[in-house]
Amino acid sequence: MCGIMGFSGHEAQNSVEIVLGGLKSLEYRGYDSSGIAYFDLKGGKIKSVKKSGKLVNLSNEVNGNGKVKSDTAIGHIRWATHGKPTDINAHPHLDCSGKIAIVHNGIIENHVSLKNALAKKGHRFVTETDSEVIAHLIEDFIREKKTFYEAVRLTSLRLEGAFAILALSADEKSVAAVKFGPPLVIALKNGNFYAASDVSPLIEHTQDVIYLKNSEIAYFQGGKLSVGTFSGRKVSRAPVRIDWDSSRAAKSGFSHFMQKEIFEQPSCLLDTFSSRVSAGGRKGGLKVSLEGIKLTGDDISGASRIVFVACGSSYYASLASKYVLEKICGLPSVVEYGSEFRYENFPVLKSDIFVGVSQSGETADTNSALELARSEKAKVVSITNVPGSQITALSNRGVIYTHAGPEIGVASTKAFTTQLLCGVLLSLYIREKSGFIPEGGLNLEELFKDLVDLPKKAEEILFMDDAIKEIAKKYYKSANFLYLGRGILYPIALEGALKLKEISYIHAEGYPAGEMKHGPIALIDENMPVLFLLSKNMLSSKTISNMEEIKARGGKIIAVADYEPEIEGISDLIRIPETEGILSPVLYTIPLQLFAYHIAALKGTDIDQPRNLAKSVTVE
Ligand code: G6P
Repeated sequence: MCGIMGFSGHEAQNSVEIVLGGLKSLEYRGYDSSGIAYFDLKGGKIKSVKKSGKLVNLSNEVNGNGKVKSDTAIGHIRWATHGKPTDINAHPHLDCSGKIAIVHNGIIENHVSLKNALAKKGHRFVTETDSEVIAHLIEDFIREKKTFYEAVRLTSLRLEGAFAILALSADEKSVAAVKFGPPLVIALKNGNFYAASDVSPLIEHTQDVIYLKNSEIAYFQGGKLSVGTFSGRKVSRAPVRIDWDSSRAAKSGFSHFMQKEIFEQPSCLLDTFSSRVSAGGRKGGLKVSLEGIKLTGDDISGASRIVFVACGSSYYASLASKYVLEKICGLPSVVEYGSEFRYENFPVLKSDIFVGVSQSGETADTNSALELARSEKAKVVSITNVPGSQITALSNRGVIYTHAGPEIGVASTKAFTTQLLCGVLLSLYIREKSGFIPEGGLNLEELFKDLVDLPKKAEEILFMDDAIKEIAKKYYKSANFLYLGRGILYPIALEGALKLKEISYIHAEGYPAGEMKHGPIALIDENMPVLFLLSKNMLSSKTISNMEEIKARGGKIIAVADYEPEIEGISDLIRIPETEGILSPVLYTIPLQLFAYHIAALKGTDIDQPRNLAKSVTVE
């Protein structure tokens, strides 16, 4: 969390405007306070403005006296970790002289000892943050007559934790960008320097970007850019082309990014599989090619299990992928929370294949777990939406990109359904290499047909938007919800409940339908809506028995089903198209997204930026 953005223009004077615009695209990363520091063209000094609350407070404050002219600025959008989200704790932080300003994404774990040592040397601290030490440490090295670049480099070596930093020097008229952990993307276009936490603020300026690697520092002065390592070695880094266009990061007439992203799913799903799956030639069937995945037949035959690691929605996508893998590859799999993994003595085997699933690719919990797996020599593959993100560097057996395009709404939608699909693709790839034949076989021809039809079926569900909104109107005042599903639909029940919690702040729980009788049934009364996910071909009669149990206790039943269930008393039925079982999670997810969206809209919550959340959490 936290987003940083910097711009230094060759002859430009609109750096403040550019940085504020960039922070807008990064707002999903944090939104409890923000700030900006820029060179004041008249006095050559650094000016800074910081405001608690949403970015609009900062923009109003900065632009209150007309447009500011400046060639260089850095900005920050905060999701507080150390210190409350007040004006004073907002970034940027300045040193004692006011000639150095920094913005920081991450955590400085040794800030207390650094702060104590610096305070003894006379540095004055004014905030409760861990980040302020960075400005003072750079200043301290400058007092020792180091250049700004050297001071930044030496500071980087002293910091422990995770940090992406942008630093300004008024004396040298320069900017430094430092990466160790959280992402930092830079670009140089027509002598202008850009740096940001991700590509979304950059794509309107350029599509050619450089992903800084860990322990690298970019330095920009007088129109010239250089990149070096913390150890002082110069490196040359070629830009990569990003094929996201800037219109994909705009709302395009929708009320919220989340709504737009829900509606983008048919085309995203197509992008996820179209270049990777083809009809299997004369014999029929289906062929999967996953460019970039380097799992060999030996890796697969030598593995006794697959270990998924993820957090949040990505964890639920992994749970669904576990069902797919076990069903079509016969390979046992476990799904671990990134946040728990490191502390639970999980015995990592050299033969294990780890699959890290992360929309952002920068979730600290997930990445730390994968680092541990790598240190034990396990094979690591990842599924992510963000090219060049940290998880990609950890994936020694390659990456499957979800190709969902930028996801701005904090609650994951299109990234989730494309993760589900990538789980299917990975399973098919593993099955192909292992030659496993599932019990009852796998009709690849049918599967291929269903895959090709999937975007169209997703579209059909989106046409039910108005009907789903009407259902939402009946229930949006409920205080609690239960979401129930069996088998592969159980993780989707969890995801549906999470979506509702995240954006409407209504308490909702996902449960395996068969487990309901072992506890949650005590909650059922006429005030408890229960949302069932059921499919004709998946234990439907057992799920219907569970519905009867709810009915008998007066609970209200909403059903999402691919058939007309033979039971009376369903209050509301959302009938979705049928598809092959392993693809069904994708279709069942969409009505739940729409339902949560409409409930939140009726409640008037901040849908794209729900309270207390951040899109990706780069601290443990
Ligand atoms: C945060 C977000 C969740 C997301 C989770 C994992 O908690 O609020 O929506 O699912 O991080 O993020 P990742 O980028 O690793 O998928």
